[in-house]
Amino acid sequence: MHKKSSPHVARLQPSRTLPESLEELRAGLLGTPRSIPPKYFYDARGAELFDRICEAPEYYPTRTEDELLRRHAATMMRDCRPGELFELGSGNARKTRRLFDACEAQGHSCDYVPMDVCEATLEQLGSELQRRYPWLSVSPMAGDYNAGLANLPAATNGAVNRLVLFLGGTVGNLSEEHGRLLLGEVRDLIPAGGHLLLGADRDKEPTLLEAAYNDAQGLTSEFNRNVLHVLNTLLNADFRPEYFEHHAPYLPEKGRVEMRLVSTRAQQVQLPRLDATLELRAGEYILTEISRKFSYPELEQMLFSSGLRVKTHYESPDPCYSLLLAESRARTPAEEERSAASRG
Ligand code: AVJ
Repeated sequence: MHKKSSPHVARLQPSRTLPESLEELRAGLLGTPRSIPPKYFYDARGAELFDRICEAPEYYPTRTEDELLRRHAATMMRDCRPGELFELGSGNARKTRRLFDACEAQGHSCDYVPMDVCEATLEQLGSELQRRYPWLSVSPMAGDYNAGLANLPAATNGAVNRLVLFLGGTVGNLSEEHGRLLLGEVRDLIPAGGHLLLGADRDKEPTLLEAAYNDAQGLTSEFNRNVLHVLNTLLNADFRPEYFEHHAPYLPEKGRVEMRLVSTRAQQVQLPRLDATLELRAGEYILTEISRKFSYPELEQMLFSSGLRVKTHYESPDPCYSLLLAESRARTPAEEERSAASRG
């Protein structure tokens, strides 16, 4: 047997101009409230901490979604017959293996294109999957989906029957506006015959939500504060993680958990690469992530307004979590015009 080398990790070229990362960080850190985009969590250490959070007893979304996938993967694959699985924010794709297992059982082979911001994760994922699923053709893609998806190559095998996966409740990390924009782009990737499988966490009892983002082992706190090390490296800054506390309240009026780093004292942080100084009052916080929790009608509406229609809803009742299999719906001429305009 030849040992195949690991799949090459390609880079997705942005199709939309994002503010340069330095500008994006400046706007966030110097704005009100102070904020940074959650993609900066995922350096090698952040990715590892996130994996451990997924195993924490309080963090129910991962195992709940995994169980839904395990139970319904065969039906889903029979229903979609995807020629290509394209996954947004694949991470280590632990749960996605339920779908590969179902394909294998059905003798159905397909391509897999995992996309993630963490290149180290993709390299490891590529070689692991190639070993475990030799029939699966894996083409990892490093990049930031906030920069647009229009440059994604057409599905290698005939451009149809692409199944886009957006799992883990990550859609909840996007603002309403960004969520709609991204799902609109996903819709353009799945003309007739294609599908989207969306995982989303549901609104529920605040104590359960807050426990999930404040685990007893302190993993989420470590994960949150690790982003300060990432910023120190990126900005040559001098954040002192010990001067910040992890705080993750659920805000019912906004329907979201907010991940915050609360400054425990009045302090100044030097940001040499931004040519700026960050002044923080005692108790002032940096918002590092929002995690929206949805009602079912909100999910349906969000998909609809992006040109998608729910085909099947797989729901776990307790704790409540949704997997939605969606397909593209015909757009009205007015919608077509607006969508073309927003793509520029
Ligand atoms: C799986 C990336 C969506 O919002 O629940 C976990 C990230 N943040 N604990 C989430 C996360 C804090 C997570 N996502």
